[in-house]
Amino acid sequence: MSEIKRLDMDSELLIRQKAFAQKAKNLLAERYDHPPLAYVHTFGCQQNVSDGEKISGMLSEIGYGPADSPETADLVIYNTCAVRENAEDRVFGNVGALKPVKQKRQGMLIGLCGCMMQQQSAAEKIKQSYPYVDLVFGTHALHTLPELLYNRLSGQKRQFSIEDSPGEIIEGIPLQRDGAIKANLPVMYGCNNFCTYCIVPYVRGRERSRRPQDVLAEARQLVEMGYREITLLGQNVNSYGYTLDEQVDFSDLLREINRIDGDFILRFMTSHPKDCTHRLIDTIAACDKVCNHIHLPVQSGSNRVLGAMNRHYTVEEYLSLIGYARQAIPDVTFSSDIIVGFPGETREEFEQTVELVKRVRYTTLYTFIYSPRTGTKAASMDDPIPEAEKSRWLRELLDIQSAIREEQQDHYIGRTLRVLADGVGRSGAGWLSGRTVSNDIVEFQGPPEMIGSFVEVKIERALNWALFGK
Ligand code: SAH
Ligand code: SF4
Ligand code: F3S
Repeated sequence: MSEIKRLDMDSELLIRQKAFAQKAKNLLAERYDHPPLAYVHTFGCQQNVSDGEKISGMLSEIGYGPADSPETADLVIYNTCAVRENAEDRVFGNVGALKPVKQKRQGMLIGLCGCMMQQQSAAEKIKQSYPYVDLVFGTHALHTLPELLYNRLSGQKRQFSIEDSPGEIIEGIPLQRDGAIKANLPVMYGCNNFCTYCIVPYVRGRERSRRPQDVLAEARQLVEMGYREITLLGQNVNSYGYTLDEQVDFSDLLREINRIDGDFILRFMTSHPKDCTHRLIDTIAACDKVCNHIHLPVQSGSNRVLGAMNRHYTVEEYLSLIGYARQAIPDVTFSSDIIVGFPGETREEFEQTVELVKRVRYTTLYTFIYSPRTGTKAASMDDPIPEAEKSRWLRELLDIQSAIREEQQDHYIGRTLRVLADGVGRSGAGWLSGRTVSNDIVEFQGPPEMIGSFVEVKIERALNWALFGK
């Protein structure tokens, strides 16, 4: 734990960044006769979305307003993801498309940050092949954006800040939240699990938890501000507290936040099955604000594959957890992530995954074809199954999941569900949209003033993408 840097708002480092933010602001005021505009786009998971809110917060402090598109922006920032190859391809494609935009827009700056930029090879490729990119900074340099931006604005050379680090916890970075109803609340950062396919531990550093008092203060503030849904975030959120000196774990944290007065619900992601204890399940059952839905990624239904993935649980242990949760938490639902075509996975092993999916009956399944990540253990494993075959397996799994989904949705018809109305619906004028505690989309008719409140909706019909009711 000692190598993890922990810094507070009044630390020298953040005061230094505030000074750079002010200098950048002055410089921009001289340069533009209107507020400069920034376009920030985040790829990847909720952790990255949460980082994106910090980027917007720092930019707002520097005086940038939000731009609707790169074409109208004076600064474009792409906050990147490295988890699969297609995530990276998308970033390169988007950056390529910025070249003609920048040629037309005098003084425009482009910055790339996030997980992909924490990889030496990707940063190097940007350096060599994308000379019009001005700033490149990895996950560990996020808080230095004001400094990097000022340096570049004041005429210094392209800025690269991609040093590796075990990680840091920095409290008090300015924040501009994406919404007014639902909020992300990171409770821990990094990952120590080193699943053999996964790049995250390499680009996000070692596992580290925020102090419980800092998390609680932020949760209280969110409730006071009127947020109705708080999602506690961590790559392995249920190992919260392992690296703290205090004796506190994720169950304790949930109980404390649940105790805050107010009309709000609590979600969390992602929980790793190996750290999902009976105590945690009992806590979910006992806490009225915690949703009775658990995202519990299983990845595979084969014990051999789970071993090769370094997941530290068996199919039997996983199913026993699901069984325990089903008897402890009324109406509990589950979602999961699955990797199809892990190196060496056989047809029989894939069929075991299908069996598991049929047994658990998830409400939502996030499925991915295995994508080799340089530097991970699995990238050097034998991988004889052709991509086309893996795609067929994926299709099969998706079809099975849609059939399960249809049956589940039919089961909702006639029932009344509690829904958090979170925006206008897609079904036309007068329709609102919301989510159930299981995170199902529900469309119903209501006045816009209803947005941001909990409503009871009687479900009348179901389509693949949503439930409809009154
Ligand atoms: N910390 C979370 C997962 C974060 S990554 C957990 O442990 O559950 C989100 C999902 O991406 C993973 O659950 C996995 O299913 C998928 N994933 C990660 N690396 C991958 C890779 N190399 N190829 C394909 N899918 C991958
Ligand atoms: Fe990746 Fe495994 Fe960590 Fe999840 S737990 S982020 S899959 S290494
Ligand atoms: Fe992607 Fe980084 Fe999240 S690699 S999935 S954005 S932690």
